[in-house]
Amino acid sequence: MKWVALSGLCAALLVSLPAAAQKSAAEAIADYRASLQDGNPADLNAARGAELWRKARGPKNVSLEKCDLGKGPGVVAGAAAQLPRHFADVGAVMDVESRLVHCMVALQGFERDALVAKPYSGTAEKATDIEDLVAFIYDESRDVQVKVPQSHAKEKQAYERGKKIFFFRGGPYDFSCASCHSADGQRIRLQDLPNLTQKAPAQAAFASWPAYRVSQGAVRTMQWRLYDCFRQQRFPELKYLSQASVDLITFLGVNANGGTMAAPAIKR
Ligand code: HEC
Repeated sequence: MKWVALSGLCAALLVSLPAAAQKSAAEAIADYRASLQDGNPADLNAARGAELWRKARGPKNVSLEKCDLGKGPGVVAGAAAQLPRHFADVGAVMDVESRLVHCMVALQGFERDALVAKPYSGTAEKATDIEDLVAFIYDESRDVQVKVPQSHAKEKQAYERGKKIFFFRGGPYDFSCASCHSADGQRIRLQDLPNLTQKAPAQAAFASWPAYRVSQGAVRTMQWRLYDCFRQQRFPELKYLSQASVDLITFLGVNANGGTMAAPAIKR
């Protein structure tokens, strides 16, 4: 815990509450989430995403129905539970969002730079096409077992790099991902910090993104989750679909193997 003492600010942020109080706060938040799950607004994003998927769009005026997410062209069911993985047609490991953008560019003729420039919606803005499509793709893997492959050499390399990034310390607070995510029962203010080095929380975390963020009134994707943790870590901005982002998602995904997909979930 020596990093907790690094600065007064961190010490103030990272509060260790007595176990009993912690449990009741965590339980209250869990109840709150459960009460919202039945009316998850992300269902609307997934429905819009399904329409977008089937609609002829872009300069080439074709749908995404021929997009190969790893289970063959057009197969969406269960695909997200097995991503990131290596794709022979591009010779690279891709996560859901990288592959989706690849399909929007290769099949529909959209400009990659334009898509990557604004993947996330801003405050009170309507969801981006990417957010709706991602909600749809993950929704088609709900209740499917996580099986992120490690058979191709590049998949293993992605995992190893992701692991390295996870434990890499730097920035003004000398934080790594592990600083916030490798101890049990840790929290910042009221939010639990899942211990991502343990099987069950690692599975729950991977399986529940993308998620509808009540506090932001928007669906947020896994790429966004990592972008925001880079920000919390005071690291340079994590570029959308960068190698580092795919590597980290591979690391998180492989560690979550055997878990059950539950995305899009709902978060505070
Ligand atoms: C300064 C502390 C901090 C650091 C460093 C940090 N995170 Fe986080 N992370 C958080 C907080 C806080 C949350 C929960 C946010 C919430 O509930 O609003 C979170 C949530 C997450 C989640 C989602 C967990 C879930 O169950 O929903 C993942 C995955 C994650 N972080 C991964 C990472 C990775 C990978 C890194 C390194 C790049 C990282 N975090 C670095 C604070 C941090």
